[in-house]
Amino acid sequence: MASAMFNGFMLIGFQLIFSLVLKGQTRTMGEPVKLPLIGKLDLAEILGFAADTPVGLLGVIIACSFIPVLIFTRGFLGYLSSYMQAWVASKVIYEIRNDTFRSVMRQSPAFFNNAKTGELMQTVIHMTSAVHQNAMILIQTLAQRPLTIISILIVLFAQDWVFTTVSLLVFPACMWPIIRIGKKAKASGANEVGDSSNLMVVLQESFAGIRLVKAYARENHECQRFEETNASMVKHMLKWTKQIELIGPIVESVASIGIGAGLVYAWQRGLEAENFFLLVMALTQIYPPVKELSRMHMIFQRTGVAAEMVFKLLEQKPDIQDAPGALDIGRTSGAVTFQNVSFSYLESDGVKKEVPAVRDIDLQLDPGKFYAFVGPSGAGKSTLYSLILRFYDPDKGGILLDGKDVRSITQEALRGNIGVVSQDTFLFHATVLENIRYGRLDASREDVIAAAKKAHAHEFIEQIGGGYDAIVGEGGCKLSGGQKQRLSIARAILRNAPILLLDEATSALDTESEKIIQEAIHVLSEGKTVVAIAHRLSTILEADQIVVMDHGCILDRGTHFELLDRNPLYQKLYHLQFSSDEKFPSAS
Ligand SMILES: Nc1ncnc2c1ncn2[C@@H]1O[C@H](COP(=O)(O)OP(=O)(O)OP(=O)(O)O)[C@@H](O)[C@H]1O
Ligand SMILES: [Mg+2]
Repeated sequence: MASAMFNGFMLIGFQLIFSLVLKGQTRTMGEPVKLPLIGKLDLAEILGFAADTPVGLLGVIIACSFIPVLIFTRGFLGYLSSYMQAWVASKVIYEIRNDTFRSVMRQSPAFFNNAKTGELMQTVIHMTSAVHQNAMILIQTLAQRPLTIISILIVLFAQDWVFTTVSLLVFPACMWPIIRIGKKAKASGANEVGDSSNLMVVLQESFAGIRLVKAYARENHECQRFEETNASMVKHMLKWTKQIELIGPIVESVASIGIGAGLVYAWQRGLEAENFFLLVMALTQIYPPVKELSRMHMIFQRTGVAAEMVFKLLEQKPDIQDAPGALDIGRTSGAVTFQNVSFSYLESDGVKKEVPAVRDIDLQLDPGKFYAFVGPSGAGKSTLYSLILRFYDPDKGGILLDGKDVRSITQEALRGNIGVVSQDTFLFHATVLENIRYGRLDASREDVIAAAKKAHAHEFIEQIGGGYDAIVGEGGCKLSGGQKQRLSIARAILRNAPILLLDEATSALDTESEKIIQEAIHVLSEGKTVVAIAHRLSTILEADQIVVMDHGCILDRGTHFELLDRNPLYQKLYHLQFSSDEKFPSAS
């Protein structure tokens, strides 16, 4: 505010200097100075000179030396205000980025089923800077620019209201093209924002799927996708620039008519040079903030689209939330009960699918027991998993953990009771140590090594250059499938949760690694409730109970031999999936 108001003050200072300097060498101190707002000043009286003292060279030099002082002060205040604005705006972007990321992290898996990762990344990183830009403009529009303009206008009106009124009449004429162009610019701005999101989607997908891209030799296809979006983005960006840069010249041209008219007016009224100087100076001062204000509208149009995306994401309520007063139950015994559970996924249009993924599931999983789930593809095995983890809430019935509905437990406490070894192990671009420690963040190096030993991962970790401190690539490309699985088992051992969800990799391993992994899983599952989606014979043989699923229902449960005896689906599955594994005991 000080910086803005100083503009008006500076004009008054200049008027004082002009009136001392521009009157020629006969000027005396006694001749009163007429300042806008302040009125007449008698310098001779104020400074204690005789009225006929000439201003003289020294006086002029002293007066003129105030020019750099005024300009410096304005510059300093301007600097201060810019810095303060940047400070506020950077706090805004810091908070907004954190909040947006937090909001994304809180969403349930259902949200991610439909979201594009690249677009989310774009929103969190780039769209938030649009909000930052908005914040900056907002501060300027709300506080600084209007004050600058008003303070200058006050001086102008006080100096010569006729001139000022006439010059102001030119303004609305400037606004008309600005508004027209603004509408067009909004469209280009929105298109550009959309394109930049698409660009990020292409980027993210082709990086994440680089192995697929390479394997199918689709580099050119991806490059083409990228180039198309990129070209469209550049096109819209140019269009936007073309439009916004039009505004300056248009405003200037219209304003020049005003200056011409002003000169005619000055000549006719016989204005003194000092007064005319002040008017012209004030007009040139008022021009930049007006130009900025007029552009602001356009920038808002563009960033508005981005801001909308950020706020949509910020306001997105996760569909899985902790109930008010949800319990932190701590460590449980690991008993899981399904009570008459049915669940359908959502279609992409947000309607529930007609055919439920699981139906009327009644199941008691006792602490410390090993359960193997088998069934054809699409039977609903993975869905049961997601339900235990409360990635989704069932449409009917409920899932209990130690007799308490999982909806009444905090998600953190619930998932703290569950360890997961999934089909495809995700590894961060971090050291082996950090990747294992993801299971329990406060684990010491010794804990990690002990877990790795139990998971039979220690030997191969020692062999890779760098050992536990070796960086494993994003997605763990530097490790074999079996090695990744063992890291994931070590992670789960470290977590040491009472319930273990084990989604076995379908890919066959050689007998040797198979045996090692089997042993690791055996160690891991000791004393835990294990829910395994079994793809290997060794796993179903280890199970206390095998649950056979088909079409979302539980068909049967029992031991391997019982089921082989009585269940036709199990017999079929066994012959198709398992019996080729090794030589094993059959029913006879
Ligand atoms: N995210 C999802 N959105 C919509 N439908 C889904 C989703 N995940 C699974 N389904 C559907 O739910 C049904 C059960 O799928 P589920 O993944 O539970 O099967 P599964 O038994 O794990 O099969 P597989 O052995 O092939 O892994 C399938 O018909 C599947 O198409
Ligand atoms: Mg599955």
